[in-house]
Amino acid sequence: MKKIILAFSAACMMLATVAQSTKIAIIPEPTELKQGEGSFKVTTSTQISIGKDEASRSIANELNASFEKAAGFKLKVNAGAAVANSIQLSLLKSEDKDLGNEGYRLAASATGVKISANKPAGLFYGVQTLLQLLPNEIESKKVIKGIAWTVPSVSIMDKPRFGWRGLMFDVSRHFFTKQEVKEFIDDMVRYKFNMLHLHLTDDQGWRIEIKSLPKLTEVGAWNVKKTGQFNYFSQPADDEPRNYGGFYTQEDIKELVKYAKERFVDIMPEIDVPGHSLAAVAAYPELSSTPGKYKVNSGEPFMDWSDTGFTALVDNALCPANEKVYEFLDKVFGEIATLFPFEYIHMGGDECAKNFWEKSDQVKALMQRENLKNQHEVQSYFVGRVNKIINSKGKKMMGWDEILEGGLVEGAAVMSWRGMEGGIDAAKKGHEVVMTPNSHVYLDFMQSDPAIEPPVYASLRLSKTYQFEPVPEGVDPKVIKGAQANEWSEQVFNTRHLQYMVWPRSLAVSEIAWSPKKTRNWNDFVSRVEDHFDRFNFADRKYAPSMYDPLVNVKKGEKNKLLVDFDSELSGLDIHYSFDNSYPDNHYAKYDGTSIEVPIDAIKLILISYRNGKPIGRMMTIGIDDLKKRAEKKKK
Ligand code: ACM
Repeated sequence: MKKIILAFSAACMMLATVAQSTKIAIIPEPTELKQGEGSFKVTTSTQISIGKDEASRSIANELNASFEKAAGFKLKVNAGAAVANSIQLSLLKSEDKDLGNEGYRLAASATGVKISANKPAGLFYGVQTLLQLLPNEIESKKVIKGIAWTVPSVSIMDKPRFGWRGLMFDVSRHFFTKQEVKEFIDDMVRYKFNMLHLHLTDDQGWRIEIKSLPKLTEVGAWNVKKTGQFNYFSQPADDEPRNYGGFYTQEDIKELVKYAKERFVDIMPEIDVPGHSLAAVAAYPELSSTPGKYKVNSGEPFMDWSDTGFTALVDNALCPANEKVYEFLDKVFGEIATLFPFEYIHMGGDECAKNFWEKSDQVKALMQRENLKNQHEVQSYFVGRVNKIINSKGKKMMGWDEILEGGLVEGAAVMSWRGMEGGIDAAKKGHEVVMTPNSHVYLDFMQSDPAIEPPVYASLRLSKTYQFEPVPEGVDPKVIKGAQANEWSEQVFNTRHLQYMVWPRSLAVSEIAWSPKKTRNWNDFVSRVEDHFDRFNFADRKYAPSMYDPLVNVKKGEKNKLLVDFDSELSGLDIHYSFDNSYPDNHYAKYDGTSIEVPIDAIKLILISYRNGKPIGRMMTIGIDDLKKRAEKKKK
């Protein structure tokens, strides 16, 4: 009897293993998915069947690149009638109205996989889904032997909620090479993003060759390498080498645009004016309203950011009253327009300090001549002129939501970043809008407690990002082009940290931008995120494990006693803690949901999340002085 029970339990365990290995964890969640029985096994004799078109061949080659890297074999690509034991990529001869331009159907059974779509983009997304149906090891950059490359039987119909699924990559504050941008594209398409917004210019660097204005890159692309905390760096000395940075030649840009296009990604260039223009002003000082000697910023303080507004300590704005500025912009946007096929050019428009304009006689004269009542109207005048230049190059203009101030120009599209309000306002006036509110999708913000994250001035946890809804109540969904997350790089000095900031919050954004609103489910999402952490490990891609870290809330109780409470983004975690400077393991006090009084002589709180008795979060140490400051700040 005992033997029978043992054999039965072994069989159950095997079944459980099989069931576990066929767990489906696709991000973004497909529109419709039905799982069947059994699976298809990809072997060296499996073929990829394609039609006669070049697009399908190149998608097949991409799929093969994954097999070659991870499995050590390539599948034969067969352009002809579909055969058994194949992965078939098929462009539909008559349109499937349910799919649009980017949708696909994927059917996997024991005999093979069939992906069909109206357009190549759909096949490409179907292949991204297929990769996620394969074992996580398919993401490995090294060959892994002994894996059964199985695809669970499944029937999927999938298409995106939004046509604009973007990530903004700031290559100005820190320069990232052409190869690094390609890798960024490789990562984003895994999750069906189709828009790369490149922030190409800022105070810290001008990153694109403009042939008619060579100093932009000879001077504007270089600053002094500093290490430490951006915005607190020491003033560079005159003799410190300005050799940190770089730029893309026009040939590089053509290569990137082509690389992106082959992966169904558009690149939208941003030339950020009139503010954030110190790199341009350093190259051509006559463009500012206070011409003088300027240097590209290297991270030393140059703006006074206060709660009520901001003031430039160094004039980093183009002069709106100088015709030379518009001649300059005509050249810049003329060359930009020939390099980027995408219909929009982003002109920035954010955070332009007006304190130097206010003092400029030229600007005062402009205000009189054009009857401009205040500096917002001056900026609006500037935006109107830029809009005309961009339109004259056959492109539409987009800008950050500050372009609404002083009146929004006809035909301009708005990227709403200071919350949703700018976007709502613009949408109600019939302008096209992309929602990128800093409340939900700013990837440069810290992902958990400041005690454990690299310091940035604000925090944004994964669960908050997942709550983002791009279409606000009362707004015509047709004018909301989509959603985008923004990765600013002031504090991002290398690609490993870039990845840490981008993942996993971009997984949430991908699901928001692609999947139907009704399928959104936090618990289900995080369980899939955990599966994708495993994929990231195979891909050697860094990600933030911050969702496991406890949330710490502190307040003052009776007699000014300090009280702490903990919380978790995930359910089912235990939080163990200490106040005696020793490392808490799972035998230490466990938070039970009631406020904990901080012992009067304690100097540190140390805490860590556990799951099923195993540590899962990072150990977090917070000084009691820090807790006191947090409690005081909360009281204000
Ligand atoms: C922005 O974050 N300044 C657009």
